[in-house]
Amino acid sequence: MAGKIIGLLGSPLTKGNTAQLLDRALKGAEDAGCSVERIVVANLDFQACQEMMFCKEHETCILDDDLQAMYPKFREMDGLIIATPVMTMGIPGKLKSFIDRFQVFFMAKYLRKKPLISKEKKICRSGLFICISGMNIPEVFIGSKLTIKAFFDIIDCQYTDEFLISDMDTIKDIRSQPDLLDAAYKKGFALGTSLCS
Ligand SMILES: Cc1cc2nc3c(=O)[nH]c(=O)nc-3n(C[C@H](O)[C@H](O)[C@H](O)COP(=O)(O)O)c2cc1C
Repeated sequence: MAGKIIGLLGSPLTKGNTAQLLDRALKGAEDAGCSVERIVVANLDFQACQEMMFCKEHETCILDDDLQAMYPKFREMDGLIIATPVMTMGIPGKLKSFIDRFQVFFMAKYLRKKPLISKEKKICRSGLFICISGMNIPEVFIGSKLTIKAFFDIIDCQYTDEFLISDMDTIKDIRSQPDLLDAAYKKGFALGTSLCS
């Protein structure tokens, strides 16, 4: 087995354009020999970070909700694909709240200097960012990329590749652009073959 890859969907539409791109990328990773798990942020029940700072001293969060099951998964994974639409020039609010709750990893890495990911594992972990936007303007992905790159850094996963598609409100249905779906498959396959675990 080439490794475990998590596919994290930020769109609330589980069969929308973003979801289809993610599924193609995950199929590519699977064909490269990886095991894959698709996680839909919209289906998880969790609170936003309450700044209770329990994670300053503990390897988890004090809030007992669906994110408790996410922390071990994100420690164990070898690769990550995040797929999301742009919303209000950034990532959707629930995906942002999901990421903020990984303060657990931030505190371990930067405050206690005891990262939750070993040095050996960190070298091998890499990820792909897929993002689509309705508009076709040059700066449309800036906000999302800053947040996702910070997240990858916090969880010790290299930001290896990206696939950014603008003008989706003109394209409307991603199935009308099979080249884009094929490109997502190839990027997932490339990620799957690049993992060293
Ligand atoms: C609440 C909301 C906010 C949005 N904000 C932006 C935006 O700021 N810039 C942009 O280019 N597109 C924006 N969009 C458009 C989406 O990025 C676009 O429709 C995308 O294709 C949705 O993907 P999905 O159907 O897979 O979720 C927004 C859409 C919604 C629902």
